[in-house]
Amino acid sequence: MILEALNFAATWLVSGRRRADEINASVRLWARARRCARDWSAHEENCKAFVRDNMPERGRVAVVLGSGLLRDVSVEDLSRAFDEVWLYDLQHLASVRLWARARGIGNLRFLQQDLSAGLDMLRDDAEVDLVVSANLLSQLGVAAERAGLDVESVIAGHVAALRAAPGRRLLLTDRAFAVILKDGSTAERHDLMHGVSLPQSEAEWFWTVAPYGELDPGYKAVHRVVAIRL
Ligand SMILES: C[S@@+](CC[C@H](N)C(=O)[O-])C[C@H]1O[C@@H](n2cnc3c(N)ncnc32)[C@H](O)[C@@H]1O
Repeated sequence: MILEALNFAATWLVSGRRRADEINASVRLWARARRCARDWSAHEENCKAFVRDNMPERGRVAVVLGSGLLRDVSVEDLSRAFDEVWLYDLQHLASVRLWARARGIGNLRFLQQDLSAGLDMLRDDAEVDLVVSANLLSQLGVAAERAGLDVESVIAGHVAALRAAPGRRLLLTDRAFAVILKDGSTAERHDLMHGVSLPQSEAEWFWTVAPYGELDPGYKAVHRVVAIRL
């Protein structure tokens, strides 16, 4: 709790976007990622490998959308291969900025922006050689549903905007999840894409977002993730 409070306070001081609810959500994600590190590691490695295998060897600007905690895309790889790496998220925690600084990664730009409003900022940027949407899309859908918006158009809109972005475009997203009981039976299934069909994926895998005990001792939540070249 103390670490979380410190991270919140430090982020509040450095963020150009002082919104307590957003910073809180990022701190909660950070705490959960630490608790679930073992269960998330295969998913994170798969994401990193997909980007590594599909990014240009050299480039000017790489963009990561939903960069958050910098766990599922290797900023070290991107930082070496590109002149600049632009990281977009609602918030970037002070702990994440410190982590990058401690590693001497100097060509990162932390950009706080609500990406549900679209990707117009990228459309005509001729310097951008790679855009990665990094496990953001389902979150846009969840937020749209909570706000009573048309979820399908938000999801389809992000895919279309990504397709229209310059450079190579890579989409990583969880597209569905299942609630699995202790006896292995499936209690619930949910389509995180709300019926929007995605382009063909290059790879798919399972991600145990919440192992037994994280949300409830009696079940775990397992998400299906897809990796797509647009
Ligand atoms: C599942 S996390 C992705 C994790 C991240 N790629 C990483 O490696 O830590 C989803 C991320 O999307 C961000 N996010 C959610 N809604 C957003 C929005 N409307 N605009 C920008 N970022 C958003 C969250 O803040 C969070 O960091």
